[in-house]
Amino acid sequence: MIKQAIIPLAGLGTRLLPLTSVFAKELLPINGKPGIEYILDECIEAGIKEVVFIISKKKMMIKKYFYNDNFYKKIIKKKKDPRTLKEYKKILKYKKIIKFVYQNKPLGTGDAVLRTKNIIKDKFFLMLLPDDLIVKKNCSKSMIQIHKKYKSSVMASMNVSKKTVSRWGIYKLKKKIDKNNFLIEDVIEKPSIKEAPSNKAVIGRYILPKKIFAKLLSQKPGKNGEIHITDSIQTLIKENQKFIAHNFSGKYLDCGSMNGYIKSAIEISKL
Ligand code: UTP
Repeated sequence: MIKQAIIPLAGLGTRLLPLTSVFAKELLPINGKPGIEYILDECIEAGIKEVVFIISKKKMMIKKYFYNDNFYKKIIKKKKDPRTLKEYKKILKYKKIIKFVYQNKPLGTGDAVLRTKNIIKDKFFLMLLPDDLIVKKNCSKSMIQIHKKYKSSVMASMNVSKKTVSRWGIYKLKKKIDKNNFLIEDVIEKPSIKEAPSNKAVIGRYILPKKIFAKLLSQKPGKNGEIHITDSIQTLIKENQKFIAHNFSGKYLDCGSMNGYIKSAIEISKL
């Protein structure tokens, strides 16, 4: 069973500047609820028991959000407001399952994942990228079922327009397993249109093998000088580690850019 999830949160969030010059984008409300809570709810519903947040000193605000007990206790004592009590209980529920590790220099997603090396216990773990919300159907839960069935790594996938391939990890298909699941032959981080082997993109949900840490330790910087998780995944695939792409059936909402964030809030308010 997959019991642990990791969430990289130590990036700079430059696409949401100027907001992100002082604020953690993962706490921005989407229809009144911080983006990160949607991600946590997805994890809890999928049966995850421990969530590791990779943050930086600049993003201590995220830790504070979950560790503000004295503040809540004082307000609850003074105002006896049932809503505050309910919100505090919710925060406590999240806090119980969250652990924090630090990545103080944003050297890339691969480097962020490496920070969790000593915490991951089982052979496989889940990784969620917090900018990628998937609503209407629990993507992590479906991926865990696929993992159980095939004992393999799994990545969420979606067809994107050819024009946008350079924003994603793009994979080459080896074999169709069934309607929504495909065996992967190769994956390339942010390829140019010319380099892209398809228009099939990896979206921010991954079930990764613990073996990936050994690859990350010797992973050289790739595109834009960053250490990318995709590059280590590519190495594992080349060594015949089975990776399945799962075409999820929920709705994908990109909260990492300003346009995407605004659209996501509108979409979620309609649910
Ligand atoms: P992105 O590459 O989308 O970067 O990271 P970003 O910093 O969030 O946003 P932009 O592109 O500057 O606007 C994907 C995820 O990986 C995390 C980010 O916090 C985000 O959740 N990340 C990225 C890290 O934790 N560490 C890194 O070094 C890089």
